[in-house]
Amino acid sequence: MKLKALNGFKDILPGEVELWQHVETTARGVFTRFDFSEIRLPVLESTELFARSIGETTDIVEKEMYTFVDKKITMRPEATASLLRAYIEHGLYVQRPVQRLFTIGPMFRHERPQKGRLRQFHQMDVEVLGSHSPMVDAELMAMGSMLLQELGLTVSLEINSLGCPQCRPGFRTELLNFLAERMEHLCDDCKRRSATNPLRVLDCKNSGCRHQVLTAPSILDHLCSDCADHFAAVREGMERLQVPYTLNRFMVRGLDYYTRTTFEFITTDLGAQAAVGAGGRYDGLIEQLGGPKDTPGIGFAMGMERLVLLLQQKQEGQDIEVYTPQLFIIALGQEAMQACHLLAHALRSRGLRVAMDLEGRSLKSQMKQADKSGANWVLIVGDNELRDGQGVLRNMQTQDQRQVALEAEALAGMVRLPMQSGIADDRSIDR
Ligand code: HAM
Repeated sequence: MKLKALNGFKDILPGEVELWQHVETTARGVFTRFDFSEIRLPVLESTELFARSIGETTDIVEKEMYTFVDKKITMRPEATASLLRAYIEHGLYVQRPVQRLFTIGPMFRHERPQKGRLRQFHQMDVEVLGSHSPMVDAELMAMGSMLLQELGLTVSLEINSLGCPQCRPGFRTELLNFLAERMEHLCDDCKRRSATNPLRVLDCKNSGCRHQVLTAPSILDHLCSDCADHFAAVREGMERLQVPYTLNRFMVRGLDYYTRTTFEFITTDLGAQAAVGAGGRYDGLIEQLGGPKDTPGIGFAMGMERLVLLLQQKQEGQDIEVYTPQLFIIALGQEAMQACHLLAHALRSRGLRVAMDLEGRSLKSQMKQADKSGANWVLIVGDNELRDGQGVLRNMQTQDQRQVALEAEALAGMVRLPMQSGIADDRSIDR
């Protein structure tokens, strides 16, 4: 039997990984500018953490979690719950009244794999804990937009407010009445959802259901005055920071913890998997998980697979630096190989990227490898040259070559000089 990666689990190979690093480096840069600190979290958590936060009746908890049933532990399907667990466990609210944290890593959901949808996928997740301020909502969305812009992606932003435990029950009753009149036209999933989680019906992808809910009541018409004021201030903040967005009155998120502002970064370029990032407020969640009373929170997560797919489709990131060797050493003969083995080590300890064939292949084969490696320089050393302590250094751009002493310090100096002067460049070459 051929061993293969599991369905929905993907290797990220050299050649593609540079794009991932570019996405991650760009994100780290943006997050740091907005005063976020990194937190690293475990992949396994107690199952109860996710059931209590994401919601017992959500698709994620009902059918998508990778759970070790006997051990009551689950591979995290998202990062927010784990991050809040850590925030509460370590009393991070004592250190700083408003914490700004980000985390990057793999998440696991047993969904049907398709383009842009995997079972192990990666999120860049940011959370602001301890602030009610609508300015934070606007700033977070502005930060997400800035990140997408810096990646060269054009993505639209949709926003909504889901209200709070004060205003939602009234809306729920009105929605239930509306759905009851149309029950026979809803899909089976929505018939079931109407009883458990009626708001999710608004978000159903089934075209029949979509048609039915066109005239459904909107939560925006049922916001209590505090939630309405908060949402108005969020929108004001968006104007101030000049972040374009559209209002999506029917946006409902697939996780139950949201209150007030919710948002999604949407693309039309990835087929059904339209959301490249999403998030919102969860003002009751920290307390619900055992944290300090009345501690609000808001955050979002970007899906890295989707960002990388978009970059590939748009041929963005073509000029990302790929690390190629600065020098490729070709040693011919046993003694030359041993001497060059030491020379390569000395050059690497001086900070140079050096490649060398250790298999004793022919000159022709090693020249081919050197060419393919993208090295700027090639040093050729045979047993004869070695006796005189010399080698031949070739500039791969100009094909000029000259005799050089096999002395690490001097060689390092030559290889570091700019290529144009006939001598080397310290930068890696562009792809
Ligand atoms: P989410 O909407 O479930 O929210 O996921 C956020 C993003 O992760 C999605 O927009 C998508 O780009 C990516 N994503 C989700 N599932 C998959 C998948 N199976 N394959 C590939 N990409 C996927 C959350 O996870 C919330 N924790 C976001 C949040 C943070 N809310 C507040 N703070």
